[in-house]
Amino acid sequence: MNAKVETPRRMPSATIGNVLALLGLLALALAFLPLHDHAWWPAPPLPAHWAWAAAAVASYAAASGWLLRRSRPRPPRERPAVGGDAPLLVAWASQTGFAEELAERTAATLAGAGLDVRLRELADVDAATLAATPRVLFVVSTTGEGDPPDPALAFVRDVLAMPVALPALEFAVLALGDRGYECFCGFGHSLDQWLRRAGAKPLFDLVEVDNGDAGALRHWQHHLGLLAQVPELPDWSPVAYEPWRLRERIELNPGSAGGPVFDLALEPPAQAHPAWQAGDIAEIGPRNPPGAVEALLAVLGLQAESAVTSGGRPRTLGEALSRARLPAAADVAGVDAQALADTLEPLPHREYSIASMPHEGGLRLLVRHMRRPDGRGGLGSGWLCEHATPGATIDLRIRDNPNFRPPAPRRPLVLVGNGTGIAGLRAHLSARVQAGARRNWLLFGERNRDRDFHYRADIERWRSEGFLERLDLAFSRDGDERRYVQHALRDAAGTLRAWLDDGAAIFVCGSLQGMAPEVDAVLRKTLGDGLVEQLLIEGRYRRDVY
Ligand SMILES: Cc1cc2nc3c(=O)[nH]c(=O)nc-3n(C[C@H](O)[C@H](O)[C@H](O)COP(=O)(O)OP(=O)(O)OC[C@H]3O[C@@H](n4cnc5c(N)ncnc54)[C@H](O)[C@@H]3O)c2cc1C
Ligand SMILES: Cc1cc2nc3c(=O)[nH]c(=O)nc-3n(C[C@H](O)[C@H](O)[C@H](O)COP(=O)(O)O)c2cc1C
Repeated sequence: MNAKVETPRRMPSATIGNVLALLGLLALALAFLPLHDHAWWPAPPLPAHWAWAAAAVASYAAASGWLLRRSRPRPPRERPAVGGDAPLLVAWASQTGFAEELAERTAATLAGAGLDVRLRELADVDAATLAATPRVLFVVSTTGEGDPPDPALAFVRDVLAMPVALPALEFAVLALGDRGYECFCGFGHSLDQWLRRAGAKPLFDLVEVDNGDAGALRHWQHHLGLLAQVPELPDWSPVAYEPWRLRERIELNPGSAGGPVFDLALEPPAQAHPAWQAGDIAEIGPRNPPGAVEALLAVLGLQAESAVTSGGRPRTLGEALSRARLPAAADVAGVDAQALADTLEPLPHREYSIASMPHEGGLRLLVRHMRRPDGRGGLGSGWLCEHATPGATIDLRIRDNPNFRPPAPRRPLVLVGNGTGIAGLRAHLSARVQAGARRNWLLFGERNRDRDFHYRADIERWRSEGFLERLDLAFSRDGDERRYVQHALRDAAGTLRAWLDDGAAIFVCGSLQGMAPEVDAVLRKTLGDGLVEQLLIEGRYRRDVY
């Protein structure tokens, strides 16, 4: 179980480093004291002392020279292209090597999925390269107190300091940092803001990684999978799932013009008391449709009940196959049960916003059943909405989502979302109701009111109890004109400004394509880029979009 434990704020390692350096200097001074074998003053230095002093000055000059050289522009050091031409560039800036490692992994993952990828250090990227490259993924760390890594200083001086127009560039940023520092992922955010100001289009929102957090890296991988259009890209690190139980599943929108949406109620393992906060995510371990596993076993002439060891655990062959990428029968013909289990690669995880709070007694998800182009159900949504039967074990892990944590109850909250995005917003509303916070404004959009008004009973109850000061619904297929949440927001511009004057935060959850950029555009048009950027910096404008 991923019970939440408040981690105490650690002292930044820069501060620790400075304190250690000062202690070292003090120790050195004390160690030199015995060298004063004459009276303290005036005491002419001995020749040996002159030699030590000269060596110290020379080493200091050499170290400074080396650091200066490192920050000077260098001729580009092109890494061998991972693919052929370069429609996608992975650019990295690293102080101690982690960003470089993740950039290499990112490039290898995408190249493995068939994309043409090039890998370059950020120091070797200039404005002309950015203008000529259609898609760039930046993997950058932060050092010092919110500073860029040393090797990126030339890029900061020569490129970031200049106003550049990059309207044709699509980008994404993986920002490495440590939440113990005041300026968490500072350089990643500066780069992201600069790219947005230059007119570049985000492929998806910046992904923050606190201390190498594996969950955040899997979230980055989720986006790489969508980018490469390979839904079964394996996870970089295995997920420590817990066995939850699917208690109930209800289809919320039979007859809808959109894809079917299901409300799932899940129970934790016995004796477990999981805790989570509004905005947190459930990582799910999908399983293959039972029919696909049975068909493979029948072709191979193997038994589902055969005992094997898979992923270090004893399982039946059927169980092992249900959680793995199914190999083509021809590739594994003639192997025995254990040999087959040894070849298996685990299926990748899927992420779903948690729609409920622990005080409601159980974890709820709102999942849209997706279809692949060949008509098969999506890997994760197919498992949750179709193949898992009530009572089934669901592999689940709760992932913290600090970037979508609730604001203080006294702060007014504007919640904007569409479709299954209401899941994350519902958890926030539930938490606000529990905290007695009444200044909530929900803007929700879907297709038809009579089919797609998910969680209608809760929303109407909260409205009648005074926990929803304002509710705007945009059902796009109900009227003659297509109306979406962004239009509702635009039409309420005066109210929005008044709420922001009162200190409100804006939380957006739902579609990355369509809704989120349109809402962003309305905010920028209504409030101006400056205020929107200010809200982002203050953490008063947050998004969880997919
Ligand atoms: C932070 C986060 C929270 C999420 N919360 C929810 C939620 O509350 N409810 C919910 O239903 N989904 C949510 N998702 C999306 C979910 O993780 C899966 O991407 C989705 O269920 C499709 O996965 P699949 O395995 O069923 O489909 P796949 O097997 O991956 O693919 C099936 C088809 O769906 C398309 N597809 C996959 N993902 C997307 C996408 N994100 N947008 C558009 N098309 C897509 C693919 O191109 C393919 O054609 C969330 C995603 C993230 C990153
Ligand atoms: C001296 C030092 C200063 C750091 N300063 C910050 C900081 O200001 N903000 C932050 O989010 N992370 C900070 N970090 C954490 C790093 O960004 C994080 O460890 C990252 O994973 C390192 O990646 P790299 O190896 O690619 O440089 C600092 C780390 C060190 C060692």
